[in-house]
Amino acid sequence: MKRAKRTLVKNFGSMGNFFAMIILVAVTVIFINTYVLSKRNLLDDGSDTNLRTDEGLYNSNGTGNSIDLQQLQKQITRSPVPDAGCEIKEKCSDKYVPYKVISGDGLDKFPMICFNNKLLLHKNSKGVQVGRGLNFIAINSTTLEVKYNETFDTYLEESFFLRVLKLKLSDSDIIIMASFDEMTSGLKEASVSLLEQYGSQLIKKVKYRDSFVMIGQKGLARGKAIESHSRKGNRDYGAAAEISGCTKFPLGQITPFTLPPVEIYKEGKISVGSSIENCGLPHTCKENEFPVHVYTGKDNNDEPKICVDGKYVISKGVNDGGRGLNIVVVSNGKEVIRTGHFDTWNDDSTNLEIFLENLEENVIIIVVTFDEASKKLSQHSKNLFFDLGSATIQNLKYRDVWVLVGQKGIQGFSPYEEISYAGTGFSYASPIDKRMCVPQTLKGLKIRPDPIPYRNDKRRDFCSRYDGYGDFCSDANIDKHLIAVPLLNKTLEDNPIYSTPVLIIAGISHDALRMCLETILMQPGINNENVIVAIDEKFAESHELISLFGFKSEKISNSSSYMEHYEKALKKVWEIHSNKDKVVVIEEDLLLSPDFLYTLALLSETFRKDETIGAIQMWNPNSYDIINGSIELIYRVDQFYGLGYLLRRSFYEKNMKDSFKECCSKRVWDKWKFPNTSSFLMPDISRTFRRPLHGNRNNSEYIETLFNQKRRTNLNPFPPLSNIDTLRKDKYEATLINAISSATLLKSLEKCDTINNYMHNLIQNQNISNTFKYIYEQKSLNDVRSLTPVLPCFGLFSVEPLGLYHDILRFSSNTYNFYLVGSQSPIHKSISKST
Ligand SMILES: *[C@@H]1O[C@H](CO)[C@@H](O)[C@H](O)[C@H]1NC(C)=O
Ligand SMILES: *[C@@H]1O[C@H](CO)[C@@H](O)[C@H](O)[C@H]1NC(C)=O
Ligand SMILES: *[C@@H]1O[C@H](CO)[C@@H](O)[C@H](O)[C@H]1NC(C)=O
Ligand SMILES: *[C@@H]1O[C@H](CO)[C@@H](O)[C@H](O)[C@H]1NC(C)=O
Ligand SMILES: *[C@@H]1O[C@H](CO)[C@@H](O)[C@H](O)[C@H]1NC(C)=O
Ligand SMILES: *[C@@H]1O[C@H](CO)[C@@H](O)[C@H](O)[C@H]1NC(C)=O
Ligand SMILES: *[C@@H]1O[C@H](CO)[C@@H](O)[C@H](O)[C@H]1NC(C)=O
Ligand SMILES: *[C@@H]1O[C@H](CO)[C@@H](O)[C@H](O)[C@H]1NC(C)=O
Ligand SMILES: *[C@@H]1O[C@H](CO)[C@@H](O)[C@H](O)[C@H]1NC(C)=O
Repeated sequence: MKRAKRTLVKNFGSMGNFFAMIILVAVTVIFINTYVLSKRNLLDDGSDTNLRTDEGLYNSNGTGNSIDLQQLQKQITRSPVPDAGCEIKEKCSDKYVPYKVISGDGLDKFPMICFNNKLLLHKNSKGVQVGRGLNFIAINSTTLEVKYNETFDTYLEESFFLRVLKLKLSDSDIIIMASFDEMTSGLKEASVSLLEQYGSQLIKKVKYRDSFVMIGQKGLARGKAIESHSRKGNRDYGAAAEISGCTKFPLGQITPFTLPPVEIYKEGKISVGSSIENCGLPHTCKENEFPVHVYTGKDNNDEPKICVDGKYVISKGVNDGGRGLNIVVVSNGKEVIRTGHFDTWNDDSTNLEIFLENLEENVIIIVVTFDEASKKLSQHSKNLFFDLGSATIQNLKYRDVWVLVGQKGIQGFSPYEEISYAGTGFSYASPIDKRMCVPQTLKGLKIRPDPIPYRNDKRRDFCSRYDGYGDFCSDANIDKHLIAVPLLNKTLEDNPIYSTPVLIIAGISHDALRMCLETILMQPGINNENVIVAIDEKFAESHELISLFGFKSEKISNSSSYMEHYEKALKKVWEIHSNKDKVVVIEEDLLLSPDFLYTLALLSETFRKDETIGAIQMWNPNSYDIINGSIELIYRVDQFYGLGYLLRRSFYEKNMKDSFKECCSKRVWDKWKFPNTSSFLMPDISRTFRRPLHGNRNNSEYIETLFNQKRRTNLNPFPPLSNIDTLRKDKYEATLINAISSATLLKSLEKCDTINNYMHNLIQNQNISNTFKYIYEQKSLNDVRSLTPVLPCFGLFSVEPLGLYHDILRFSSNTYNFYLVGSQSPIHKSISKST
């Protein structure tokens, strides 16, 4: 029995993580599809030779070394009449080119680019894009034709801008740029320095929401570009920046562009360091596998190492092994076909990106970091590693170390990846040192092997100071970020549940509270601001835990019992939220189903319209595993069992506020007593799980039967509900009457000790009916003496009937519906009368 409980808790937890992970992955995929892929396609058009051929790429010093100045100064042809909007004051002589460039003005006015009397970019330009960031046109300085145009959303991210500036354009190419909306947030330092090599001196000064325009040329000295910058100042946006006039090209002396050398070694040039049998493995690898040793080094004085098939091809002095990322590409079984070293601490990631984009199908790639590799590692490179099977590259931070064996074309995640995080301060991470046999074809894992989002320093700090949080502080979890899961279903956005306060009434166990908070955080759409955790002032430690989750904690004055604390906490939450008409209440030691809020959201309209419903409780005392109920069904009941519920303010004020001691001072499973005018809603299958209770209690048999048996808790994050429309009082009773009158009667049940297999088999082997009723004899209303003995026949809670509605006990089992109906129940009477 214990094992079963543990399994449930375990599944419950990992289900939540899995779910959060699906969303994480979905967000990544959407990001890649919308931003990265669309830009990549633009760059990959056929004319793009620089980016496509390896040779031209890596050995290029820039292609336009010999510029024909004569040709540049030849007469320029242009239409005699400028396009509309391109008129300027000056009249340009034949050797000069007229231009007019205006940036956007706030969000209202779009930018405009005129060049050589042609309107190249404006609000409605066809074939040239206009948008947020930098609107960019490159022009062939010989023909003055547009060579390339693009809008770089440098508000968000800009790795392709950098690449265009660096590799796509040739020396002396003219660039024209005009900002729109915001262009600095995502603009990288590397691009800013490159623009200085296009002649700009103002670009460094451009700040958030300033405006900027420029005409420059590749290879021009700083300060020689034509440019203008307009500060935002006190306004929302800078005023439009504008330049216009006549100019001659080149704008100044063109110095051919030089790119820092990239260390790529290919066949014939790959040197081999020391050799070691099987790369140090004690045994030989299987056929179709090869031995690998990877080592990240202890600190910057150590060295990175990669051994493939018995030979070190990366180490100090071998193939330039060093700071940043060291990469070995393996093909044709176990042949090293290329190595690369990219100092992603010092240099931008352009060369790395190109290296990764041009990998041949199916090659194996082995990557080892050394010293520091994260500083200039671009998001696009990380996405490329993601495609090669990495699950953790997104997490790489300052001085963290990382190892990946990936494969081009892998489906899912590589089983050969490891990351180790640096300590706080500037200390190095403990090195990764691994020897393994790598198969020639990697089998991708469908599920992220280790779904750790980032390094979570706050959580690490918390865990270093407190004990007793189990899994929460384990190596596998310590870096998980505690981030609420967003609401993906937009139709629910306005549902009042997502703005309803959530009160957690914490008990004594910190770790139970921690688990409860974890399941609250994974409710899609939960708003941290709404979550209040009421803690007794004696427990300061909980306060830190709660702030780690981003929830509010509310200190409640010292109480001598949990129910005293309960009463004060409930009173407090209504005070804090004096304008709210309902509140979600979570008691101690609960875990919530992933659909807890979602199901409440689906029921919130019924709750609003039917004021006879005092609360929606999400726990069902009869929801045992053996009964195998239905996730789709919600019932009305007369009694309130709590353990996670939505409470109506008017119900609280009428029945609890001033009479808490009378109605509610017992634990809720000892039954709270209210006047009989209210009903409650309750699911067939529980949406909360109460951790098993231990210890000697007065009524321990009762409690153990209730909690310490295998219970069923829903794990489906979006279960459909089938009977929402029939829950309002009048309809519900009509539906009950209908169902009961057509149900098949189960006759004469004897008292049972356990589930009645004979009856079960009968039911399963018939194909007439899926609804059954059993009529139990009553002398008067509320008389359940003849119902109690048959409860175990169905596997229901056996000590007394719980979950009755007007003397009818309703449940679902293996898709069959059951109604245990009291002979004096008004509903039964109304059926008897009419037949
Ligand atoms: C690149 O330029 C350097 C010096 O400027 C020269 O030595 C080298 O040969 C050039 N490489 C190519 C491929 O043009
Ligand atoms: C601008 O670029 C797009 C694709 O990037 C291209 O289809 C279009 O022809 C270009 N416009 C001009 C004027 O070159
Ligand atoms: C400019 O265009 C001419 C004619 O199409 C072409 O020969 C030349 O290579 C181009 N120059 C550059 C730098 O693209
Ligand atoms: C979104 O929620 C609504 C209920 O408001 C439900 O009917 C719909 O099926 C949900 N959509 C998705 C995609 O889950
Ligand atoms: C809390 O209250 C109890 C009595 O209700 C008292 O004995 C105890 O000293 C109090 N503790 C604190 C920290 O105030
Ligand atoms: C409420 O209970 C009292 C007795 O406890 C009973 O007389 C009365 O009829 C009940 N009211 C309803 C609406 O069931
Ligand atoms: C134990 O039960 C008896 C009677 O059922 C009751 O009088 C007593 O108060 C209970 N004790 C506790 C600690 O609940
Ligand atoms: C179930 O239905 C089939 C025909 O659909 C019939 O032959 C069979 O006898 C039925 N079984 C029972 C137990 O009614
Ligand atoms: C539980 O009920 C479902 C239908 O709701 C059925 O498919 C499943 O087989 C049942 N499980 C067991 C163990 O009977």
